[in-house]
Amino acid sequence: MKRYIPLAATGLLMAAGVALAAGPAVDQKKFEENKTKKEWMSQGGEREEALTLKPNKENGKDVYEVCSACHQPEGWGLPDGTFPQLAGQHRTVIIKQLADIRDGHRDNPTMYPFALPSEIGGTQAIADVSEYMAVLKMNPENGVGKGDDLQLGAKLYADNCVRCHGKDGEGDAEKYYPRIQAQHYEYLVRQYRWIKEGKRRNSNPEMVEQIKNFSDRDTLAVLDYVSRLKPPADLIAPKGWKNPDFK
Ligand code: HEC
Ligand code: HEC
Repeated sequence: MKRYIPLAATGLLMAAGVALAAGPAVDQKKFEENKTKKEWMSQGGEREEALTLKPNKENGKDVYEVCSACHQPEGWGLPDGTFPQLAGQHRTVIIKQLADIRDGHRDNPTMYPFALPSEIGGTQAIADVSEYMAVLKMNPENGVGKGDDLQLGAKLYADNCVRCHGKDGEGDAEKYYPRIQAQHYEYLVRQYRWIKEGKRRNSNPEMVEQIKNFSDRDTLAVLDYVSRLKPPADLIAPKGWKNPDFK
């Protein structure tokens, strides 16, 4: 497959989407309603359903073609934080975020048109693409911060984050706590601020409470530290690895 240039690829993406199974129409009323809510764990939606379906990784690869235009063929995103790394993320987390974006619980206007059931298919597509992404090997060279306040970062991390995101930022698949180790620093900063300010409406209220008194210095220090946390060696790809599925 051709490597697309992000954002310049809209037309091509639309064309790619047409080839995939068209899913059910979006419930527009529900979508608008959800957009007014702050809800961390919504019930009865595609998140729950996707977890009951048997994933088809081969179809997941086909669906991922659309995603790869932005998240990159390797799933590594971009160090400037525009697009997050999704490779190696817990499947449950990918499912939750995708379902939340599709049903209005999380805003993502850039991605939304490409994640629609009419583009990639129904709930089965979520089950499939999440399976494909979760086992992609992770970026060995993610974007990191300045490295000038790491002692403070380490202390803040130990005191405020370990109980949910784990000692090395590995998260917790069962509890939908994301893996944050080796994520691009710039992406971490944006999401963290949006969670703190309430702009990310599907965030975890306990986390919001935990970080409410963080200063700007605290925020940058702890996220610089997080960006340098390393996943286990067997989850990381060799430098310069190219995904053979999308040559
Ligand atoms: C046009 C670009 C674009 C396309 C295509 C795209 N995404 Fe995204 N995606 C984004 C952006 C931008 C973000 C981060 C949004 C933000 O900052 O909140 C994102 C975020 C996500 C997240 C949340 C990650 C996290 O750590 O919270 C998931 C999951 C995701 N995308 C999955 C997908 C899947 C699956 C596809 C294909 C069906 C896809 N994306 C296609 C741009 C895109
Ligand atoms: C009570 C548990 C909890 C605590 C404590 C917590 N988090 Fe989180 N964090 C979460 C959950 C759950 C999410 C995902 C929320 C969602 O579903 O949208 C998250 C999301 C994030 C994200 C966005 C990740 C992504 O891929 O989009 C970042 C960055 C983050 N946390 C950093 C931190 C840092 C740094 C600390 C400590 C200062 C911290 N969190 C403390 C539970 C927690």
